[in-house]
Amino acid sequence: MLVFTTINEFAAWRNGLADDITVAVVPTMGALHEGHAQLIREASLSAQETIVTIFVNRIQFTNASDFEMYPKTFEDDVQIAENAGATAVFAPLEAEMSPILERNRLTAGHIGKIWEGKDRPGHFDGVLTVVNQLFALTRPHHARFGKKDRQQLCIISSWARRAWPTISIDAGATVRDDDGLALSSRNRRLSLRARRAAASIPHALRNVQRAYLDGSDSVTKLESVGRASLSSECVLHYLTVVDPLTLERQETATDGSIVLIAATIDGVRLIDNVDLSE
Ligand code: PAJ
Repeated sequence: MLVFTTINEFAAWRNGLADDITVAVVPTMGALHEGHAQLIREASLSAQETIVTIFVNRIQFTNASDFEMYPKTFEDDVQIAENAGATAVFAPLEAEMSPILERNRLTAGHIGKIWEGKDRPGHFDGVLTVVNQLFALTRPHHARFGKKDRQQLCIISSWARRAWPTISIDAGATVRDDDGLALSSRNRRLSLRARRAAASIPHALRNVQRAYLDGSDSVTKLESVGRASLSSECVLHYLTVVDPLTLERQETATDGSIVLIAATIDGVRLIDNVDLSE
């Protein structure tokens, strides 16, 4: 597997690939875990070259200390990427990327200002800005993102349909721990006690699904079922049922609806979601 840390070296390699080579990219911020590995494995099935990008994108963080504290595990990441089937890792340096991002800022619009975007202003603008540059540099046929970050996936999918119509945006299922907690690089910041409380998040999502399958379609009712299932240690930001395309809250749930949740436990913000009828 090849590892590139400069744009020039990476571009020279990318430009050397024949036109009939299928290229997939899995953008990440490193600190790779089994959720990322699963995306890489799946991506490598549809491509001859599978590029994993690793770049901790300062402009998508609303909190400077969150950015500074972001775990950096580069050597492990390279190993995980290789074992999962990546053929190249592209980890550009901040000094090289920053000016490019500054000159090419994108905005996500209304859908970037609700839910996660409301609590983290500018977050999705930063995500779109970096994904746009990563697409420009990697020129993939496929790009794979996790359903774990559902609002991110939705925003990127609808933007890319217009901005990068030749790239197929593929979605990977959320990889979970044995107790249902979605894998996240933030989980390692949870104390043992908080980790136990965090399991109530997927538990709440499952209870909402069950209530819907048992015949409740009032979103107000489903929200209260979910809230009642949460540990008292969770500070809830939102738990609601939304339309899968617009992500707007619905009054009445349908089979395609998505349940979204964000909660902070012990100072660690966690997000999760499920398809209501999955
Ligand atoms: P990061 O948090 O590193 O996530 C990289 C990809 O892994 C995202 O598509 C995310 O949805 C996916 N992922 C994370 N946890 C997962 C899990 N438990 N199961 C399945 N997939 C999971 O998301 C970002 O980085 C950044 O915003 C990025 C898109 C790279 C732009 O900077």
